[in-house]
Amino acid sequence: MKETYSIAIDGPAAAGKSTVAKRVAKALNYTYIDTGAMYRAVTYAVIKAGLDPQNEEESITVLPGMTIDLLEDGTVLCNGEDVTKVIRTPLVSGNVSYIAAMKPIRLALVDMQRELANKRSVVMDGRDIGTYVLPDAQVKIFQIASVECRAKRRYDENVSKGIPTSMEDVIEDVKKRDYIDSHRDFAPLKQAEDAIPLDTSEMNIEEVVNAILSIIEEKTGVKA
Ligand code: DC
Repeated sequence: MKETYSIAIDGPAAAGKSTVAKRVAKALNYTYIDTGAMYRAVTYAVIKAGLDPQNEEESITVLPGMTIDLLEDGTVLCNGEDVTKVIRTPLVSGNVSYIAAMKPIRLALVDMQRELANKRSVVMDGRDIGTYVLPDAQVKIFQIASVECRAKRRYDENVSKGIPTSMEDVIEDVKKRDYIDSHRDFAPLKQAEDAIPLDTSEMNIEEVVNAILSIIEEKTGVKA
């Protein structure tokens, strides 16, 4: 059987992980899995159902029977509905950390994520991929960047997608999510011991992608 590889890219909010992970996956012909989109999809489902995303007992009622599909072209389906755009709105971004801190929700999504990585080579980005979801990943990257730099990237991304945002709101949101994500009890945002830290504050996307591809080649011998 052909050997499969798992590449884990973790790091704080808006560190540019998804853009980079997508390109790395494309260069290697691996499947890209955006785990943040999965937490966002659950958050949207909770809000849509009129439930309180800060209340665990209420929020977990959306789980039974719920389906999340990540399509090749980046489309995200939640229970068959295209939620690609709505999961990036401030309403969802502002509430997703509460949902991501709920253990029953994490366990359900981690099961799905492991299943996805089981049979194919993946580039998976998130917060706990190297520490918890795929502890045996052959390559683990911990991607960081300054708060200002991350807020600017998220702001530009929202503008390009036509999502109305203010810079102040983005900075606040990034700081708030960093805090909640790294202080939750279960599988918090933390660099895995065997992860390679990569500070991308002064790097452009191309440079980050190339740096990660070099690390992958060094660790696995796999060439893009
Ligand atoms: O990467 P993102 O901004 O789309 O992530 C959305 C939220 O989901 C973020 O607040 C942290 C959380 N998350 C997580 O807890 N674990 C993951 N593996 C991925 C995301």
